[in-house]
Amino acid sequence: MKILAIDDSKVNLLLYKGAIAQHLKDAELQTTRSGAEGIELARNWHPDTILLDLQMPEMDGFETIHRLKRTPATAFIPIIIITASDAASKDRIRALDLGADAFLQKPITSEELIAHIKVMLRIKKAEEQLRHSQKLEAIGLLAGGIAHDFNNILTVIRGYSTMLLMQTPPDSPQGESLQMIVDAVKRAAGLTQNLLTFSRKQESTPVMAELCGLVSGFEKFIKRIIGDNIRLSLACCAQSTPEPLLTMVDRSMIEQLLMNLAINARDAMPDGGQLTIATANAVLENKTAEPLGLPPGRYIHLTISDTGSGIPKDVLPKIFDPFFTTKEIGKGSGLGLSMVYGIIKQHGGAISVESTPGTGTTFSIYLPANDTPETVLESC
Ligand SMILES: Nc1ncnc2c1ncn2[C@@H]1O[C@H](COP(=O)(O)OP(=O)(O)O)[C@@H](O)[C@H]1O
Ligand SMILES: [Mg+2]
Repeated sequence: MKILAIDDSKVNLLLYKGAIAQHLKDAELQTTRSGAEGIELARNWHPDTILLDLQMPEMDGFETIHRLKRTPATAFIPIIIITASDAASKDRIRALDLGADAFLQKPITSEELIAHIKVMLRIKKAEEQLRHSQKLEAIGLLAGGIAHDFNNILTVIRGYSTMLLMQTPPDSPQGESLQMIVDAVKRAAGLTQNLLTFSRKQESTPVMAELCGLVSGFEKFIKRIIGDNIRLSLACCAQSTPEPLLTMVDRSMIEQLLMNLAINARDAMPDGGQLTIATANAVLENKTAEPLGLPPGRYIHLTISDTGSGIPKDVLPKIFDPFFTTKEIGKGSGLGLSMVYGIIKQHGGAISVESTPGTGTTFSIYLPANDTPETVLESC
């Protein structure tokens, strides 16, 4: 978490420094004593929140807010104004109208300051998640539309080329070319199918399943994908989850999901490592459900963790975008995680990811739990 404090008073900056060091251990603080320097730093350093003084020589706080909120690169950074006790009501209104997100008047305790910073971080995170899911929705709509029409065209190409191939004598020189067309169309159809999964246009046949058993059933298949130098540990069917993990799922989609996540984990661990897949029941309260865009309730929690290369912070927001890949040409299509995302959305669930470069990555998936044990189809 990164915090930028802009204040011409050295004493104030020291106070903020002390409060943050004491209460927000993992926060990084940068300070500047002028609005212009603060804006420059905000543009390059991308802080998560800004503490801003109003009365400053040269560029005052009002002008600083105005410039920060006008620039796309800094517009979404929450600003907390901290000002002297005698600030007039019209100044508070002006600062808030200009785009400040909170207004604190001294004296304030360090606990109060920290509480406000935490609120700002919560709001920023929720806004980022909303923007991200809106972006994925829009791409999904576009990609789905194109993929659908494209698929129809491919069906025609496939039909005619297969027909021509059947009419061509085996020793004809045209046979080989036609076979290449048929093969290429098959690959193209696979690609459009992936896009349709991302945009949730793929038809699904959900059945009631016990997720722990379902995942265990894929163990052999996952082992084949990851190879011998990666250890697989399935922390499902564990003593800690005596209750069945019932959910409505499309079996082949869950298989597709596990396959994509396992391939990514394998690619992130070229020198071997550990892949852990765990399932558990989870109850999400309002506070934990909201950031995931889910209603509170009972869920099945599926986690897939690897001890691989991890994902750099600047890459993390892009990984679910279709065609985003960091792999070399021919190795990655950039559609794996978009499909995973589409599948989870189609199931009414959510996915989040935590990653530390050099240590590993954990994908955390929530699928709505179903509470009718009589209809168990799959079990441990
Ligand atoms: N387990 C992981 N560890 C490290 N990076 C990952 C992991 N999973 C996904 N990524 C990153 O996300 C990108 C997108 O993944 P994906 O959509 O599956 O496409 P692809 O695997 O074809 O590149 C990958 O190129 C990689 O940079
Ligand atoms: Mg992949």
